[in-house]
Amino acid sequence: MAFDQKQFDDIIREFTVDSDALHTIAADFRYDLRMGLKDPDQSSLRMLKSYVGLPTGEEKGEYLALDFGGTNVRVLRIRLDGHGKFEVLKKVAKPLRVEGIYDYVGEGSTAEQMFDFIAELVDEAVEGDHETKYLLGHTFSFPSEQTDLYNAKLIIWTKEFATAGVEGKVVNDLLKEALHRQGIDNVEPTAVINDTVAVLLAAAYKQPDTFIGSIYATGHNTCYLEPYADTADEPMILNLESGGFMKLVPNRYDVAFDEKSEKPGEQRLEKMVSGRYMGELFGMALADLLGESGKAYGFTSIDMSNIVLDEEDDDAGIRKIVAGRTGHELDKETCEQVRKLVSTLIVRSARLVTASYVGIIWQLDGEAKPRKQHIAIDGSVYEKMPLAKENIMRALYELLGEEAANVDTVLENGGSGLGAAIAAAMSQN
Ligand code: BGC
Repeated sequence: MAFDQKQFDDIIREFTVDSDALHTIAADFRYDLRMGLKDPDQSSLRMLKSYVGLPTGEEKGEYLALDFGGTNVRVLRIRLDGHGKFEVLKKVAKPLRVEGIYDYVGEGSTAEQMFDFIAELVDEAVEGDHETKYLLGHTFSFPSEQTDLYNAKLIIWTKEFATAGVEGKVVNDLLKEALHRQGIDNVEPTAVINDTVAVLLAAAYKQPDTFIGSIYATGHNTCYLEPYADTADEPMILNLESGGFMKLVPNRYDVAFDEKSEKPGEQRLEKMVSGRYMGELFGMALADLLGESGKAYGFTSIDMSNIVLDEEDDDAGIRKIVAGRTGHELDKETCEQVRKLVSTLIVRSARLVTASYVGIIWQLDGEAKPRKQHIAIDGSVYEKMPLAKENIMRALYELLGEEAANVDTVLENGGSGLGAAIAAAMSQN
């Protein structure tokens, strides 16, 4: 039996961003950008200074890159050969949490434990060599207040991290201390950047005309090159922490989810668009439709991808995923509704993200004619989630009209590591 049609239609409507709303959100985003440049307290965007501009392409040499932005931490040894060329010489990666074995991201864990674990990874990346000097670039993908390229204090954990003793601290000091505890004094952390900044640096190292960098994955955020960040200074990349953008109308699922999240009231845009949350929102709506309101089934964004991609005649894939998570067997009509609900959530996500990109483009170029440019994006939702890319393009055209032909999006895969190495190289200037 299909879901109640009225209830279903209401839910779809609540997750739909129509053209008017799309325009309003892009304009509001631009407004917050403009206000934020004058006084960040007047804006829901944090507009964090990165103390770095775009690379020249001449950056060369061997560096260490620490990519710390989600539960999987990576350390890379990278040789930069200039003008977009580079080679990864060594790569080690480990999760910060393994269910039932260890957990460095939960409430019970401490900064020392977490950074000791990371220092061990650095040791693996240098293969126990405690002699050769290395500069280390650190992509730290959480909102951080910087005073220079080295000094970044974590403002607040996002993405449901809760490790004690890191908020308010200079993260590279914590890293340095941990390296020292393990006798790795030849590795010198010199730069901290956000992952969006890393994506922009990596993309701009390869091709000019890239001014916006974005992550569209477990978390979501965007940065851009601001020509007038600091009156007399060179152009500087600003990390908007756009996941915190607030001028959006949350629906009842957004509100209910926010209330039970680690940080209620924070990260409104991120909670409406990113991979970490989409599956949960879908599950909440489905629970209502299945008459089990309030149940959390643990759907993930990967489940959502698989639901959209299921091409079997009898929707066997959808049935299996839904039965596995909820215990309910669906008929054909209901599978269609489930597919529609999932698509609607993905389309909403892509449209909201695009509105933020266009807000930046309007701020930089005015509304008349955006310059020719690439928006560099990294992340599993952008790369792998069906419907995401095409709906970004569609929304770009909806907002920019024909001028959208000047703008394209490019996948900057693995930009976090490369960007960190470039930042380490730039830290010598
Ligand atoms: C963080 C950002 C980060 C984004 C993508 C958000 O939760 O606040 O700093 O860029 O996730 O990783």
